[in-house]
Amino acid sequence: MIPLILTLFIMTTEPATKTFTLEPLPYGYRELEPEISEETLRYHHDKHTAAYVNKLNELIAGTPYADMTLEEIIEKSDGAVFNNAAQAWNHNFYFATLSPKPKTAPEGELLDAVVARYGSLDNLKARMNSAATSLFGSGWVWLAADKDGNLEIMSGSNADNPLRHGLCPLLGIDVWEHAYYIDYRNARADAVQALWERIDWSKAEERYRNR
Ligand SMILES: [Fe+2]
Repeated sequence: MIPLILTLFIMTTEPATKTFTLEPLPYGYRELEPEISEETLRYHHDKHTAAYVNKLNELIAGTPYADMTLEEIIEKSDGAVFNNAAQAWNHNFYFATLSPKPKTAPEGELLDAVVARYGSLDNLKARMNSAATSLFGSGWVWLAADKDGNLEIMSGSNADNPLRHGLCPLLGIDVWEHAYYIDYRNARADAVQALWERIDWSKAEERYRNR
């Protein structure tokens, strides 16, 4: 009888565990072609991103991280937990930034901030392209804003992102080879240049408004 009571006690006092789920793509697998192929999306979203989410769930089970939001985990963790949490967040953000029918240039206060900081949208793109091609190894290039609305281009290795540095991410370019190798092989510069055709500036405008 005692073991049964003990078992019930353990079951009822186990900490609540949260399971993060893979966000579905907000468009069809072929809707970003020709810039991003169906095969790339199936690997990038269904395999790589899913693996980050699954690994995160495995790592945080039964730990204090299980009761945190993804953003809180990114802020407070290190090592494998941080890497998988940030990569889960980064990819959800990245896929949500792309669109079959993107707004190809910012307007309003975000355009004003771009012009104030970089002179023109073309100059901003050139600076981000340069950051993407010169980043050694795997990582991300971000356009981010501080609380006052000042823009900053940030390069980060592996899973690093603006949230970790107290900045608001507006756009993220994934320069891990898994993002482009199927379609562009080793030509990272071509992949980044093509990505601008799919980046939806209305998403960046909304994030800038809500920073
Ligand atoms: Fe990726």
